[in-house]
Amino acid sequence: MPTLLSPLSFAGLRLRNRIAMPPMWSGQATPEGFVSAANVEYHRVRAAAGTALVIVENAFVHPQGRHSATQLGAHADACADGLARLAAAIRGEGAVACLQIAHAGSRASSRVTGLPVVSASPVATGREAHEETPAALDTGGIANVVEAFAAAAARARRAGFDAVEVHAAHGYLLSQFLSPLTNRREDDYGGDAARRARLTADVVTAITQRVGPGFPVFVRLGMHDERPGGLTLAPACWTAARLVEAGASLIDVSGGLAGSDDPGRGPGYFVPYAEALKDVVNVPVLVAGGITDPRTADVIVRSRRADIVGVGRAMLADPAWAARAVEMLREAPAG
Ligand SMILES: Cc1cc2nc3c(=O)[nH]c(=O)nc-3n(C[C@H](O)[C@H](O)[C@H](O)COP(=O)(O)O)c2cc1C
Repeated sequence: MPTLLSPLSFAGLRLRNRIAMPPMWSGQATPEGFVSAANVEYHRVRAAAGTALVIVENAFVHPQGRHSATQLGAHADACADGLARLAAAIRGEGAVACLQIAHAGSRASSRVTGLPVVSASPVATGREAHEETPAALDTGGIANVVEAFAAAAARARRAGFDAVEVHAAHGYLLSQFLSPLTNRREDDYGGDAARRARLTADVVTAITQRVGPGFPVFVRLGMHDERPGGLTLAPACWTAARLVEAGASLIDVSGGLAGSDDPGRGPGYFVPYAEALKDVVNVPVLVAGGITDPRTADVIVRSRRADIVGVGRAMLADPAWAARAVEMLREAPAG
């Protein structure tokens, strides 16, 4: 029976245990979007505590998809040196280093980017105070987005990261395409669940063609919009299977059209989505959401409801969370 402390090997990677740091924007990048010393230290200390997988906070793939002025970038070759320092610091502490790559779509700020905001359709997510009604991407714009993700993944690989994670959750651009609330298109990218999933699948395919094989692509997938009329579990599971077919090596379960906040269901609030997904895909499933107690994380893995557990805010509060978890579970494993 796997436990939180069991190693896990998949897609050419070896995790020393099942503890992950999920991506968490820290607002520490330089105005150019370059990695700062603070960015490096923020991730390094959590890797040094024994965290097996560190997924670096979301880095924008294209200037038009930049969410904030202090966000990391992976949009240009000039980002390479900083990204290389970040990957080396994480890997130097024995963790697997993954970079989350993202396009914020209508959640980008035109005040920051100087560019019009874009999405699937002219419908905002309603999440951001600064959010404007976006312009719908045309097919040329969609092709540019796919290319930007592939180029950013190639930069991550050259910088020494072990993997990338495509951000398709929380009302960012790919999630805006996946959601029937924000995707009102009637072309090849909208109209039914399969067409809404097409852009995310195209992104995964383009990355695997550009940087694979041997460079795993993870997807953080919103499994439920948590809003009436939004994306629900069944089409999200279908989408996940499609993404695995396209080459995804891990699905990182999240939810919420415009954020992953606790919808009031207590610790492990997205675990039921992970459990449902494990029946559908044959790649590791990671889940985060309200998990603070190492024993809760251990039970999730032991009961095979997920393969890897992400600990976000608890690891922000206590950078040594993983070390504490290892110590606690070695002494008193969950029954
Ligand atoms: C400060 C902060 C920044 C976040 N930034 C990101 C991000 O860059 N990308 C992402 O997919 N999720 C982001 N999230 C969501 C977390 O990765 C995680 O899914 C969420 O906090 C739930 O897990 P937790 O209850 O363990 O914190 C962020 C969360 C917080 C609190």
